[in-house]
Amino acid sequence: MSAGEASTAGSSQIAAAVQRTLSAKAERFTESVIREMTRLAMQYDAVNMAQGFPDFSAAPEVKEAARQAISDDINQYAITWGAKELRDAIARKFERTQGVRVDPEREITVTCGSTEAMMAAMMGIINPGDEVVIFEPHYENYGPDAILSGATPRFVQLQPPDWNFDRDELKRAFGPKTKAIIVNTPNNPTGKVFSREELEFIRDLCVRWNAFAVTDEIYEHIIFDGSKHISMASLDGMRDRTITINGMSKTYSVTGWRVGWAIAPPEASVPIRKVHDFLTVGAAAPLQQAGVTALELPPTYYTKLAENYRVKRDRMLGILADAGFRCFKPAGAYYIMTDISGFNFRGDDVEFAKYLVRDIGIAVVPGSSFYDDPAMGAKQVRFTFCKKDSTLDACEKKLSKLCSR
Ligand SMILES: Cc1ncc(COP(=O)(O)O)c(C=O)c1O
Repeated sequence: MSAGEASTAGSSQIAAAVQRTLSAKAERFTESVIREMTRLAMQYDAVNMAQGFPDFSAAPEVKEAARQAISDDINQYAITWGAKELRDAIARKFERTQGVRVDPEREITVTCGSTEAMMAAMMGIINPGDEVVIFEPHYENYGPDAILSGATPRFVQLQPPDWNFDRDELKRAFGPKTKAIIVNTPNNPTGKVFSREELEFIRDLCVRWNAFAVTDEIYEHIIFDGSKHISMASLDGMRDRTITINGMSKTYSVTGWRVGWAIAPPEASVPIRKVHDFLTVGAAAPLQQAGVTALELPPTYYTKLAENYRVKRDRMLGILADAGFRCFKPAGAYYIMTDISGFNFRGDDVEFAKYLVRDIGIAVVPGSSFYDDPAMGAKQVRFTFCKKDSTLDACEKKLSKLCSR
C-alpha cells in the first residue's frame, strides 16, 4: 500500500467514525433543493425562476425606517419574543384584516423569519409519537420541521388541476395521535387558496381530534381574481387552537431581513417563546422597528402588490404556455406549478430541471422536492414569477430556445 492509499484508507475510517457520531435526524433530509437551484443558477449564469425572492426594490419608506432605526441606535437585543411596538402593530393588523383580537403581551412571538416561527411552533407542541397532517405538494421546509421536532408526518394529497383534497382521505389522516395539521394558504407551490368551506371542514377535524392548526399565511396579500384569504384563527372555535405563522418576507419584499412571527394562544406561546429564545434569542432589532412602519402601510399598498403580481402571473402563464408547459393557474402566492409531460423528455423532473439550467439557462424547482414520494412530482416543475419585467423578458427569451428544439 502506498503512502497515499494509506492516508485515503485512514481518512475514510475517520469519516466513518465521525458519521456514527452525527445526528440521525439530520441524515433523514437533504439540503434544500430550492436553494441548491439558486446556486446552480449562479454557476450557469441562468435566470433564477426557482427561489421565491423578489429581484425588485422594497418600499422606500420601509427601507428608510430601517436606516433610521440603526441611526437611532436600535442596535441591541430586542425583547426576546419581539419588540413591543412590533408586536402591537402585528396585533392591530391581525384585528384590522382578519377580525381576530390577540394579546401582544402573551400571544405573539417575533422570530427570525416565518421559517423559525414554524420550527419553534413544531418544537413547542410536539411530543414523541405525535402525528402531523401535511398536505402535499408542500413547501419543502415542512418535512424537516416534522423530522427535527420528532413528529410523524401523515400526507394528504392536493390533486391537480384544482388542488382539491379528498375529504375521506383527510378524515382518515386524523386520529388520536394527531397533534396538528399544517395548512399553507395561499399555498406554495400550487397557488391554491383554501376556501371557507374547506377550512371549516379542517376545523371540524381539529375540534374532533383536539388538534392544532398551524397555518402558514405568508402569502396572505398575494391573491388574485377576487379570491379571499381567510385566517383559520378567525373561524368559530379555532382562535385557541390555531398557531398563525406569518412574516415580512413576501408581503414587503424583504426576504433577507428575516422577520417573522407566530400568533398562538398563551399556553402554546409559552413553549414557542422558550424554543425561540434558545434557537436565536431574537430577530434583528432595527428591522423589527422597520416592521412597525411596514405593517402600518395603507390598504392601497396591498392592493397594488396583488395587482402587480397578477400582471406578472398572467404574463408568465403566457410565456410558459407558449414554451409548451401545461400550467396550473394559481389563485394566490407567486409560483406556477407546471406539468412537463408534453415535452416527452426522457428523464424525470430533476433531470429536466438540470437540463433547463445548464442548456436553456433557466433555473426552476423540480416538482419532486414538494412530495414525500419523489415519483409524485416526476412530471412537474415550479416557476416563480416574483421578478421584475426585465427578468421575465430574459426568461421568455431563454424559453423560446426550448420550443424551437
Ligand atoms: C410557504 C412558505 N413559508 C415560509 C417561507 C419562508 O418565509 P421566511 O422568509 O419568513 O422564513 C416561504 C418561502 O419561500 C414559503 O414559501
